[in-house]
Order: sequence, then C-alpha cells, then structure tokens
Amino acid sequence: MNDGVLVIGALNVDLVVVADRLPGPGETVVGPRLDKFGGGKGANAAIAAARMNAPVRYCGAVGSDDLGREALADLRSANIDVVDVAVLEDVATGTALIVVDSAGENQIAVAAGANAVVDPALVRSGVIRAAGWASCVLVSTEISSAAVEAAVTTARDLRLLCVLNPAPMRTDLVAAAHTASILTPNASELRDLCNVLAVPYSDIADAAVRVAQATGARLAVTLGAGGALVASPDGTTGPIPAVAVPDVRDTTGAGDTFNGVLAAGLSAGMTLTAASTRAVAAASLSVRHRGARSGMPSAEEVDLARL
Ligand code: RIB
Ligand code: NA
Repeated sequence: MNDGVLVIGALNVDLVVVADRLPGPGETVVGPRLDKFGGGKGANAAIAAARMNAPVRYCGAVGSDDLGREALADLRSANIDVVDVAVLEDVATGTALIVVDSAGENQIAVAAGANAVVDPALVRSGVIRAAGWASCVLVSTEISSAAVEAAVTTARDLRLLCVLNPAPMRTDLVAAAHTASILTPNASELRDLCNVLAVPYSDIADAAVRVAQATGARLAVTLGAGGALVASPDGTTGPIPAVAVPDVRDTTGAGDTFNGVLAAGLSAGMTLTAASTRAVAAASLSVRHRGARSGMPSAEEVDLARL
C-alpha cells in the first residue's frame, strides 16, 4: 500500500524566548529563559504526519554538528526514516530565533545553514526512491528554489500527489506553484501568491479560486483560528471550521501540523476536504503547548477532539 509520506523542507533548532509582547524595530524585550526545541517547517511537518501513524521519510540537510545529530535522533525516535538527509561538513544545522508573546503569536528569524544548500539531486533521488512507497510528497520552501523545483517536478513526473506549502512565500515560486497538485498558503501567503501570479485579490475565497484556476492546483488555505478553506479550479470552495481551543500558548508550528496531517491523510486516500478537516483539528490542538512540536496530537487525540 503506497501510504507513505515524503516530506522535503527545512530542519532547524528553535531557540525560543517567551516575552509579554513581540519586539518592534530597534526594541529589546526580555523573557525569563531560553528554550530549545526541534523545528523547521519540513521536519515539523514530518513529525506531525508520523503522529498520524503514517510511514514518513524526511529529506533535507543538517550540519555535521551536535545540533544536527540530536535533530536526526529526534526524527528517528519519532519513527521517521532519515535515509534522504544529507549531513554536510562546513555548514551549520539551521537555527531559528523565535520570540513568542503572551497570546501565543510569534516572530521568527532563521539562519538557514544546511537548509540553504539542500542538493536538488538529493531531492530528485529521494522522490524517485519514494515512488512505489509514498503517494504524497509534501514540500515547504525554507530550502533553495532549485531544491523546491526538483521536488515538485519529479513528483509530477512520477504522478505522485504533491502538496506545496509556500512558507515562506517567495517570488521565485511561480513555476513550482504551477507544477504542484495542492497549494497550502496561509492568508498572507495567498495574497503574495496572487501578486506573483498576477491574479487580482478581493477576498480569500475569490483569491483561492483564482489561484486554483491560474495554476490548475487545488488549494487548502489555512486561516488560523478561522480553520481553513478549500478551493478547486472548477470554482467550488468549502469552509473547514476550526476546533476552538481556550488555552493558546504557542502557535509556532501550527501550519506545519496542518501540512503534515494533511499529507498523511491524502496519502491514506482521504479526500482533500476530509484530510483538511483532520489537519485543521490537529493544528488547532497543537497550539496548547510551547514549541513547534510538543502540542502535535496523536491520531487518537484528533479523533476525540472531533467527537
Ligand atoms: O513553522 C515554524 C517553524 O518555522 C519553526 O520551527 C522554525 O524553525 C521556522 O522554520
Ligand atoms: Na505548539
């Protein structure tokens, strides 16, 4: 059964300070301590997919340093296959500096390190190796555009379902957006997608349909506490309601949770709407704990929350 998920994207170590509010330009905010968590949009999504019991392989790069070794050990102990991860000399494992405020909002700056030099050839061979085992490839864009393009074009050539999470959104993603099967922007990335695709923007639902029509892809737009919205090139849209969470501690990684759980559902044969519904529930639950990964729920927890 081809129910595996191949996740291609960044792996970071997250250094997090919780403060009352986020700093403005030139401003200093102070929090009590530094926390260190596993992070990176690719590796986070891989963990989220594995929590759904999907067979998961992660493809990316780390430095040959202690942080990289620890990060790979974390993935392995979450049952994730790291055969397609390069361990690179002379470059550091990616690191993210994160401030989280009292409402759980965050601000992130990333030192890309090894993520910036993920080899497109490694990505291509990873996708080829995944064919016959995975039916879904998830790609996020904290790696070079050459690596992103290698991922989406190889997935398309092999007829694998390819989810492109344009996070962070960049102007050089036009070709990839046209090649992917499913796009998962958040509201601001959707606006930026409209810009780079020269699609007019009026509101979220209209923009989602227009982007779907311009690219031929289906969309699942993530809307934070507003859930998500799916849209197809045929003009249909459907809202996916969020699960209300009273105690929001840290929204870091909520988008990655959505994407990982979405990819796990799609590779298990769920429809886009069904997979998005489970993914929204998982992302809603994920914000109750600090750190990108600590709040990611198991499949059982998601099922309970949806009763
Ligand atoms: O999406 C959250 C992630 O973005 C963090 O884990 C951080 O590493 C950055 O990549
Ligand atoms: Na979290």
